[in-house]
Amino acid sequence: MIEFQGVSLVYGKNVILNSVSFRAEFYERIAILGGSGVGKTTLLKLLLGLIRPDEGRILINGRDITGMTEKELREVRKNFSIVFQEGALFDSLSVKENVAFCLREFYNLSEEEIEERVRELLRKVGIEGAMHLMPEELSGGMQRRVAIARSLAACEPKMILYDEPTTGLDPLTADTICNLMKELSQGEPPERRGLIVVTHKVTDAVKVAERFMYLRNGTIAFDGDLEGLVSTEDEELRRFINEIL
Ligand SMILES: Nc1ncnc2c1ncn2[C@@H]1O[C@H](COP(=O)(O)OP(=O)(O)OP(=O)(O)O)[C@@H](O)[C@H]1O
Ligand SMILES: [Mg+2]
Repeated sequence: MIEFQGVSLVYGKNVILNSVSFRAEFYERIAILGGSGVGKTTLLKLLLGLIRPDEGRILINGRDITGMTEKELREVRKNFSIVFQEGALFDSLSVKENVAFCLREFYNLSEEEIEERVRELLRKVGIEGAMHLMPEELSGGMQRRVAIARSLAACEPKMILYDEPTTGLDPLTADTICNLMKELSQGEPPERRGLIVVTHKVTDAVKVAERFMYLRNGTIAFDGDLEGLVSTEDEELRRFINEIL
């Protein structure tokens, strides 16, 4: 269970988040929508304890993470994996080494065990054959798949966080990434692995999410299901989701 209680964050004079509160279960599939610079990525960083709020509390399974030490935070972070904006692969490392990176960092595995684990992860995301290629040899869609595989390498997360996973991809490739995201979040609540996808692509959000939050001026201007979203009377939000109306 995730709980934001009156979370505020200020950068200089800019109020990025202004007393944001919500609750979510790990098995939910949530899309966080909003224009450029409204604080979507910031919200994910707060959730992982990568930055601390100026005010408010962030509870994960009932424990406030805002005052935690790095060591305590590492435990909390095991609930999540994150696929960063742009995929952010290491250019100079092969696909295998990109995916193996955290395995090498955190575990003491033999070369065979690493190879086996990487192969299994690449199979899961549908690009087993790309193991020995370099990032520059991959299409945009394949790069995103590698980024997803890498995020899953170190742990079995209860929830996957995606920051703009389909931005910059053509519609068909974006669609295959949405399918992969859904596949990785199969099953029935409460056992299901959930996801939070941060995006400004509304058509992709509705493919994977069941709950939608719209961020504006530091607050959650909308929080509800698809039915509620498409029947909103908020004029700006209607313009934002125009493609699906
Ligand atoms: N370290 C920082 N120092 C100062 N300002 C920052 C910092 N990080 C982010 N900001 C500002 O905070 C605001 C929110 O940033 P954030 O990256 O969360 O936006 P976003 O909603 O993810 O945008 P985008 O859709 O462009 O990715 C932006 O105005 C950004 O310029
Ligand atoms: Mg962002």
